[in-house]
Amino acid sequence: MIPKELKGIPGLMTGPELAVLTRMARSAGSAVELGCFHGRSLAAMGLEHPGMRLWGVDAWGDMSHRGYQGATLEACRANLERLGVRAELLQGKTEEVAPEFGETVELVHVDAGHSYEECTRDLADWTPKVGPGGALCVHDYGEPHNPALSRPEVREAVDDWRNSDWAEVERDGVMIAFRRLIADRGALYVAYGERAREQCLESIDSLHAVAPALPVAVVSDAPLEGADHMIIHPEADRGARAQKTRMYSLSPFRETLFLDADTRVLVDPEPGFGLLRYADVVLSQDPVRVFSQQTWPHLDRREVAATRQETNGGELLYWNSGVILFRRSERARALFQAWHAEWTRWGKHDQMALMRAVYRNPVRMVAVREPWNTHKRKEAKFVFHDHRAARREGAPQ
Ligand SMILES: C[S@@+](CC[C@H](N)C(=O)[O-])C[C@H]1O[C@@H](n2cnc3c(N)ncnc32)[C@H](O)[C@@H]1O
Repeated sequence: MIPKELKGIPGLMTGPELAVLTRMARSAGSAVELGCFHGRSLAAMGLEHPGMRLWGVDAWGDMSHRGYQGATLEACRANLERLGVRAELLQGKTEEVAPEFGETVELVHVDAGHSYEECTRDLADWTPKVGPGGALCVHDYGEPHNPALSRPEVREAVDDWRNSDWAEVERDGVMIAFRRLIADRGALYVAYGERAREQCLESIDSLHAVAPALPVAVVSDAPLEGADHMIIHPEADRGARAQKTRMYSLSPFRETLFLDADTRVLVDPEPGFGLLRYADVVLSQDPVRVFSQQTWPHLDRREVAATRQETNGGELLYWNSGVILFRRSERARALFQAWHAEWTRWGKHDQMALMRAVYRNPVRMVAVREPWNTHKRKEAKFVFHDHRAARREGAPQ
């Protein structure tokens, strides 16, 4: 789980905790870490996203009063250099560096002083440096497997800091991640490759025609004209499922309408958002309807067998992942995080992964019928879905 390059660098973060941080780093063009120690988590971010601009802040002083051997600036720098990670290291107390640090960044990682006062001050000083749509990670939130590493004051400080401008988006072990929201409602697209980007522009036009005021965010590897907010994320897989299955985490909206790039929106989505008064998630039925009845030859047999087995036979509704509405809630956060984890198990079929995630993570859901989102143009009531129009060679069907 822990990248092998990091194995020689001392640090206490577990593999899953580092994974939350590096996932959040993928869509951040810049990040500052408070508390670098020997540079392990800083290096993890730099290795994951080599193009990002990185800063590390640490006093690199004597930590014996806290019961552990402190690191030195030189040791941290040598570790980063050995791995080819470029970062600007700023030596000093976080509270002293904060007023001098004039940059706006896309990610702040807080892992320096772990008392209530230190953590509260770091959150107050550094979260305003995160730009709209950016992210915050805090390590040591909650109870670790090893009780000796428990830092209850961090949890207290984070819970007292929580506010409506930030949504919790991921959590694993004692790592917690938040997204800074830019609007109450908005539409989110994921578009990679020329065809998908063209399709996305057409879909945005169709959306603007029925909902001109709804902001649009696009996840892609280059800016796309027509987006109000860009989430630049390097390419991960041919079908961009690694990004799509993280829609909850990447979205900068309190309530999100996710749309595949090859959709055309036919009517105002307002009634769809209205359903979020009753539910965490709105999902629509896939034409396959019941998973156990599917006969698609292109589905991976091993994954089909495992999915049936893990869902008590697969006698379940099969969800289409092309049009989804969701709001922020702990249940939805758990479901979407599980979806991404299920996707990474095989990396083949995001809808099978979604079905397994829904099975294990019950949410309040409104299930809508097929005409909500269909490739049958005449039957489409909300979205016409021109399946495969945005597909790239090598992407899953
Ligand atoms: C838990 S370690 C960081 C571990 C590192 N993020 C990793 O996982 O590789 C905490 C670090 O914060 C630094 N630190 C603690 N209080 C600080 C403060 N007020 N200002 C700056 N650095 C501080 C310590 O020197 C120590 O290196």
